[in-house]
Amino acid sequence: METMPDRRTLESAVASAGRTPSLHNSQPWRWVLDADGLTLFSDNDRILPATDPSGRQMLLSCGAVLHHLRTALIARHWATEVERMPDPTNRRCLATLRFHRTDAVSDIDLRMAEAIGHRRTERLPMEAPPQWEQTESALQTLVESTGVHLSAIAEHERPALEELSRRIGGERRSDAAYQTELSWWAGHGMYPDGIPPDALPPGQRTVATEREFPPGSATGDSAEAEDRAAILLLSTTTDTRLDWLRSGEALSAVLLACTARGLATCSVTHLTESESARVFLRDTARIEGAPQAMIRVGVRSGPVPDAATPRRPISEILFRTHP
Ligand SMILES: Cc1cc2nc3c(=O)[nH]c(=O)nc-3n(C[C@H](O)[C@H](O)[C@H](O)COP(=O)(O)O)c2cc1C
Repeated sequence: METMPDRRTLESAVASAGRTPSLHNSQPWRWVLDADGLTLFSDNDRILPATDPSGRQMLLSCGAVLHHLRTALIARHWATEVERMPDPTNRRCLATLRFHRTDAVSDIDLRMAEAIGHRRTERLPMEAPPQWEQTESALQTLVESTGVHLSAIAEHERPALEELSRRIGGERRSDAAYQTELSWWAGHGMYPDGIPPDALPPGQRTVATEREFPPGSATGDSAEAEDRAAILLLSTTTDTRLDWLRSGEALSAVLLACTARGLATCSVTHLTESESARVFLRDTARIEGAPQAMIRVGVRSGPVPDAATPRRPISEILFRTHP
């Protein structure tokens, strides 16, 4: 049985998974290839201490890259077996992957893999997603197997959520460390990471439930419109590092499934960064456990922009322990 993809297949899958979303496009992951398989490590130099002191979102981002890579590989006829947190003595070691060749590749697998290249974080107001009940139940089914819960924030809770978001945004404006970090990562296009201006809305804030970013130059027909996106919440029963990794995998699955259905998405985490906001989210979404991330899902008004946010080259994320 073949147990290792050839070099070209592996590199193209890792490059494709490089398109994974991450907090402020920090891309905090490294892959190490050895004779048996691939290991995922967090790149802790890329943690954002003022925004993400616990590293929760670094692990969410790494969980997302794990799911993206598995999605890219299955479309190339390689199935993966994953062991999560395999080395208790090394907190950076997040997962090991072993491979086997497979012909069991479904249309959905192919559509999810294709969505990797089309997905963009959409920060402008969106129109409401059509046939939402159907989509929401498909997403529930998708996420169920990961042990992560998916809930929807009810429409009548939106004003309270917007109010909370404005309050957190206001508090953050006077947080110097947070602002310094935000302006390092967002609003310029100098590096192969961070969020360039053309991915950020022009006004100080166009969507009330979103994080406040420095003003950018994203264009769309909806800059002045009211946001009608559905708002989803991912949560877990407990709040461990494994829960964070799994939440990232679920986040990736939801984003790709929505993209494959032609929907626009935006991960939103400024509220899950605040303990008081997490209590509010728990009550509002009527969940018992730990809120991990919100996702806005809707229809982009206007064409999807061609330009994608930059990514680090594969030489900075894939390493080999054997020639
Ligand atoms: C854990 C995590 C947290 C994120 N938080 C936010 C957020 O609060 N607001 C936002 O607009 N985008 C958020 N994003 C999206 C990233 O900014 C985005 O993925 C990154 O800039 C790359 O751009 P792309 O998704 O268009 O490829 C988050 C993504 C992840 C994985």
